[in-house]
Amino acid sequence: EKGTYDHFMLKETDEQPFVIRKIIQHYQDEAEQIKMEPAIRHAMVNADRIYIVAAGTSYNAGLVGKQFIENLAKIPVEVHIASEFAYNMPLLSEKPLFIFLSQSGETADSRAVLVKIKELGHPALTITNVPGSTLSREADFTLPLYAGPEIAVASTKAYTAQMAVMLLLAVDAAKGKEITLDFNPLQELAIVANAMEVLTDQKETFETLAQSYLSVSRNAFFIGRGVDYFVCVEGSLKLKEISYIQAEGFAGGELKHGTIALIEEGTPVIALATQSSLNHSIRGNVQEVNARGANTLLISMKGLEHDEDAFVIPAVHELLTPLASVVPLQLLAYYAAVQRGADVDKPRNLAKSVTVE
Ligand code: M6R
Repeated sequence: EKGTYDHFMLKETDEQPFVIRKIIQHYQDEAEQIKMEPAIRHAMVNADRIYIVAAGTSYNAGLVGKQFIENLAKIPVEVHIASEFAYNMPLLSEKPLFIFLSQSGETADSRAVLVKIKELGHPALTITNVPGSTLSREADFTLPLYAGPEIAVASTKAYTAQMAVMLLLAVDAAKGKEITLDFNPLQELAIVANAMEVLTDQKETFETLAQSYLSVSRNAFFIGRGVDYFVCVEGSLKLKEISYIQAEGFAGGELKHGTIALIEEGTPVIALATQSSLNHSIRGNVQEVNARGANTLLISMKGLEHDEDAFVIPAVHELLTPLASVVPLQLLAYYAAVQRGADVDKPRNLAKSVTVE
């Protein structure tokens, strides 16, 4: 039930800190270590390459998951759009492990790939919010998201839950490979949950920012570098599907290779700056669009902020920033859609789970 909320999307955005805490609880043993089925660790450690297959927001979570797995467990990862993979299969490695990311566990495009790779005899792990769903039953292993039912068509809490579970999976695989990590992932996730709470407590700020940047524009750009770029792709999908503003998530450095031609006087550009090694370069990209008249909303992270930034998110571990930086983008999309009179929970032309190929 929606309770006092006008829309499920806002309720589900607000639930994110609790979902992260629930994931910590479920994936933690008595010694406060990550609890993972030995067979899953074995499958991860034995893979020479991991193929993440998903659609939409789950695909966007997969892009971040690749960073976690490659950075921490040092296993190469490819992320694939399910509907493309099914009909144009890439060359596979000798010992692949497939990870299917799906909130619903019912996405037909992903299932088509699962059926194909099972015919080839490859192992599959499904990460889903619905254990017992088709993708969960037909895979060898399942990791639940513990996000609770997600009703709004626009996915919010499943995205952050997917990233959190992939982090724990990556950390556990690193342990299996005897790689020592210099941070405590469960502690860092707890810090993320607190940061999310700080962000969801500032709804009026995002309502006002949406009003000044997005309430009338026909298009918008999201720019970032590194993991910020992946969050920009997700932020743009969120804005497109519920507000019908044409939006594009772009790698900051790639703009000058064509897309910057679209920047006009007043074009909204939302920029993310949460990575210390990229702070200087993304700010350079912001100057480039500003020089062409863009109306830029720069969201940075505590410790990296400049006076002129429109919003500063609380500091979290640099690898985990996507879990926090997406919250402002979810809320901006939400308020833009409300302000434009769109049906937030049931956008036109869309269904919650896409069960046709
Ligand atoms: O249930 P799934 O995670 O497999 O769904 C995949 C996409 O259809 C889904 O993420 C879609 O892109 C959402 N509407 C995005 O908010």
